[in-house]
Amino acid sequence: MTVTVGFLGAGFIAESHATMLEVSGADAAFGPVFDPDSSRAASFALRHGGAVAATESEVIDGSDAVYVCTWTSEHPRLVEAVARAGRAVFCEKPLGVDLEAARLVADTVASAGVINQVGLVLRDSPAFRYLRTLVDDPADGEVLTVVFRDDQYLPVRGIYGSRWRADPARAGAGTLIEHSIHDLDLLEWLFGPVSALSARTSQRHGIEGIEDVAGVHLEFASGATAHLISVWHDVLGRPSGRRLEVFRRRGWYALEGDLAGPVRVQRTPEADIDEADALLAGGQVAEPGEVIVDDGVPAWRRGEHTPDDVLAGRDLVRHLLERGCRLRYPDAGFIESVAAGRPATPSVADALRAHVLVDAAYRSATDAGAWVEVSS
Ligand SMILES: NC(=O)c1ccc[n+]([C@@H]2O[C@H](COP(=O)([O-])OP(=O)(O)OC[C@H]3O[C@@H](n4cnc5c(N)ncnc54)[C@H](O)[C@@H]3O)[C@@H](O)[C@H]2O)c1
Repeated sequence: MTVTVGFLGAGFIAESHATMLEVSGADAAFGPVFDPDSSRAASFALRHGGAVAATESEVIDGSDAVYVCTWTSEHPRLVEAVARAGRAVFCEKPLGVDLEAARLVADTVASAGVINQVGLVLRDSPAFRYLRTLVDDPADGEVLTVVFRDDQYLPVRGIYGSRWRADPARAGAGTLIEHSIHDLDLLEWLFGPVSALSARTSQRHGIEGIEDVAGVHLEFASGATAHLISVWHDVLGRPSGRRLEVFRRRGWYALEGDLAGPVRVQRTPEADIDEADALLAGGQVAEPGEVIVDDGVPAWRRGEHTPDDVLAGRDLVRHLLERGCRLRYPDAGFIESVAAGRPATPSVADALRAHVLVDAAYRSATDAGAWVEVSS
């Protein structure tokens, strides 16, 4: 079945979804598009096909599935209209400007029973999928701690060029809800439920209600911890970049680059730790921290068991495919779900959980970084 997709909003992210629908070969046809900025709708229709609609309801009536790609404050009202009409819906993140609005969206799609997906697209990034295969493998021992840095230039500029991101009424707030909702979602997706967090935020650009520096300290139910730093700066050569380091008992992973890596891995096999412990117990200590053994330097001291494996781009994708990992374009996955009439993922319910974390972070920040318990 070819799925006719309509678009509400024809800006930056609508363009990205349209392109992904095209390059992924999804069985989709472009239906109507509406944007109050009619020149945007017109150039979108010119590039991708479909027709410019005069109203939101024209889009809904003329589509099997609707992408809601407007600024954030419009999401709840539009998702409700789409769901009431019984159409499948792809809603961009965030679901709404705060947790209450996000709950409204989740309740609406649940009671309408429509297929729904959200734009938490990094769950489908090959680099993050690979990182998850590393984390899911118990071989490197327990996860100790995670350092996550997410930076972007203030997105009212450059390719984003959107004044609404400086307006709390339309964006909700700043970097935590607008950008790092991805990161909070990824942290739970990778490391399991968060049990508590503490956050501090500041507004260094002086835009009221729009935090541009945030630090969140998280504790997981597993006992692991994480520090997330999210910053909006003015370095125009850095549209969006992430670096995530995972420390396990015997493994270290570093991911850089949202989609294609590189992902770097360093690990020490358990047997080498045993050898090192045995040497410390029975070997001769020549000076603090140095162990001398009869037959020279042991393998782990020569670094033989700490190769620095790096995977990036095509090699990373090939590695995943060879191990049976199913990679997909999120948009193609959505269209397949709509055609088959089965649930899509990540869903609005997944995004609601990310909103719970964002909300806890804002509550902590307004209480000078007090720890906030988060129930799963
Ligand atoms: N998943 C991601 O990685 C990602 C990336 C960028 C943006 N986003 C999200 O996507 C949404 C849109 O962001 P953007 O960068 O495309 O912004 P944008 O400013 O480029 O486009 C938003 C468009 O929505 C239009 N609009 C406003 N109200 C409308 C309505 N009622 N009906 C139809 N159109 C309407 C505006 O005129 C504008 O053209 C935001 O919620 C943003 O957070 C997600």
